[in-house]
Amino acid sequence: MRRMIIAGNWKLFGTIAETENLCKGLLNGKSRSERAEVLVCPPYTALAAASSLLADSHIAVGGQDMSEYEGGAYTGEISAEMLLTVGATFVILGHSERRQYHAETDQLVNAKAVRALASGLTPIICVGETLEERESGRTEDVVGAQIAGTLKDLSAEDLKKTVVAYEPVWAIGTGKTATPEMAEAVHRFIRERLVALDNEAAEMLPILYGGSVKPNNAAGLLSQPNIDGALVGGASLKADDFIAIINAA
Ligand code: 13P
Repeated sequence: MRRMIIAGNWKLFGTIAETENLCKGLLNGKSRSERAEVLVCPPYTALAAASSLLADSHIAVGGQDMSEYEGGAYTGEISAEMLLTVGATFVILGHSERRQYHAETDQLVNAKAVRALASGLTPIICVGETLEERESGRTEDVVGAQIAGTLKDLSAEDLKKTVVAYEPVWAIGTGKTATPEMAEAVHRFIRERLVALDNEAAEMLPILYGGSVKPNNAAGLLSQPNIDGALVGGASLKADDFIAIINAA
């Protein structure tokens, strides 16, 4: 059986105090799942606080991005090593907001993925089409190119340590979710592309869905055969909502 992961992407939300409150809310609630691993990705400045509260719990911690470089004169950047030292085990890479507002390309995301894997972090590589791309019938072209570009030259062993998140851009923060059938169709397409890279890795690699996942739509999405978890934005900022999504898994 493939791993299932429910991950919270907190984006630009969470002071240290807010992070501590949210982590305590998760620890005090029924946030443990028999089936799914649970992960939260606070902003960099709150990672250490989250890690120390969640140490020895069932909840892992991840970064929202990282540099492709090990170190150097790169103002504002964070390295894989730095994430590891504050207890992160995962890192989100190539989120559509990084692509849109920070001009990240598949090539850059690929370089970051290579660095993350070499450092021992699990990359969660995000792909997804815009509304215009979907409406012009280009979803598979766009997602296929993102998969090929971001996973380029990864060994089968590395692919087995990688997670992909399908996040249609039009569904992020809009309250519009892909129906379970729409999402499953793209997840199945991604799985087929992975099979072309390595059969065994394609079977193992979890593909998460992201884009307005809420307590009321999570079960339908997560019951699809190729949807192996969720990358949750807004709803992961409320302990009760995130717990409800974990329980839907
Ligand atoms: P929302 O759940 O707020 O739509 O955000 C999804 C997302 O971007 C997770 O990475």
